[in-house]
Amino acid sequence: MKQLSLLLLSFFITTPLYAASGEENYKAYCWQCHGMQGDGMGINIENMSVQPRDHTDRKSMSARSDAELFKVIKEGGLSIDKSVLMPPWADVMSDAEIKAIVKYLRKLCDCS
Ligand code: HEC
Repeated sequence: MKQLSLLLLSFFITTPLYAASGEENYKAYCWQCHGMQGDGMGINIENMSVQPRDHTDRKSMSARSDAELFKVIKEGGLSIDKSVLMPPWADVMSDAEIKAIVKYLRKLCDCS
């Protein structure tokens, strides 16, 4: 009985109650700059000195590995020598959620 409750306890501790999908998180946190369709046409762009990446651009998105995409989302633009205007998301999303966003980006660009 004790073992069972420990098992249940560890299940609840390690399983997030709710994890948003990559698409949901993208449409919550990324669209302002990258656009609802991921085409880089978000409402912020008029005032930005560096324009956000068009995530539907197959050619430039193919040049990035999944690991690089993960890193720039988690640690921000500076981490891969890009603009600070790309914010870090480590405090907002878990690694699993960031991985789900990378998957969603691959869907947007239809590339790998
Ligand atoms: C405040 C505006 C802003 C928000 C919000 C934002 N980004 Fe960005 N993002 C940028 C800008 C600007 C760049 C381009 C940086 C550069 O080229 O130097 C960029 C670049 C990127 C890149 C790098 C592409 C490449 O290969 O160079 C990825 C990936 C990315 N953003 C993903 C995301 C994701 C995912 C989110 C949401 C969790 C997000 N961004 C939210 C502004 C933003």
